[in-house]
Amino acid sequence: MPGNHGAGVIRVYPDLEALSQAAAALFVRQAQQATAARGRFGVALSGGHTPRRTYELLGQASWKDQAPWDRIHIFWGDERCVPPDDPRSNARLAREVWLDRVPISGSQVHPIECAAAPAAAAARYEARLREFFAGGPPRLDLVFLGLGANGHTASLFPGAPVIHEQQRWAAAIYVAEQDLYRVTLTAPLFNQAALVVFLVTGAAKARVLKEVLYGGYDPGRLPAQLIRPESGELRWLVDEEAASELK
Ligand code: 6PG
Repeated sequence: MPGNHGAGVIRVYPDLEALSQAAAALFVRQAQQATAARGRFGVALSGGHTPRRTYELLGQASWKDQAPWDRIHIFWGDERCVPPDDPRSNARLAREVWLDRVPISGSQVHPIECAAAPAAAAARYEARLREFFAGGPPRLDLVFLGLGANGHTASLFPGAPVIHEQQRWAAAIYVAEQDLYRVTLTAPLFNQAALVVFLVTGAAKARVLKEVLYGGYDPGRLPAQLIRPESGELRWLVDEEAASELK
């Protein structure tokens, strides 16, 4: 297999459960290391269904008891602009299966609140991130991302203007097929992260995963290819079904 775009490390797990165990372990390890080194841990979460089991595990005793919750700051890589209790809300999922079950202060959980005025919400979220980084490098310690069957990641959708963003860290987009506004962090910010981890499962992702990793560089069509940490690491945690076309 020739080298993949961005030289990410690919790890293949038998199924979603094994992948989720690995992702939860990685979260806790990164949190322990970052807090030991820098006193805090900033993470951006992915939306979608794939990380649900990882989040559940992080709310359960074996993992929960090992994480330094008082120094963890939770951000989101993207949000669907719906009311906070809407089933489509990415923040709601994480809250329900994980964050409401661990001793983290509400002041350390930073949902993207974009149900009204998405563009203003994106600007507010960027301001919140700037405050968090306080003039230092805008380096999240960990970013979880998913991969859509059409090559999107976070809410960086094929053909959307936001994929060309060079300056802003957060932007609003309208996704016509879903008749939904979304707010997403942008590639320039994701690419400053210390570690970016894609979680990809299921046969429906096999073809796009192969294209993103080994096809020609075409981020207009496959925005996930924009993710290439400048000095951080890129890892792909995938299950056997998603990896089936890589062999
Ligand atoms: C979202 C996302 C999005 C997601 C992919 C994969 O809010 O929809 O953050 O980028 O990660 O669409 O979604 P699944 O995990 O549901 O396949």
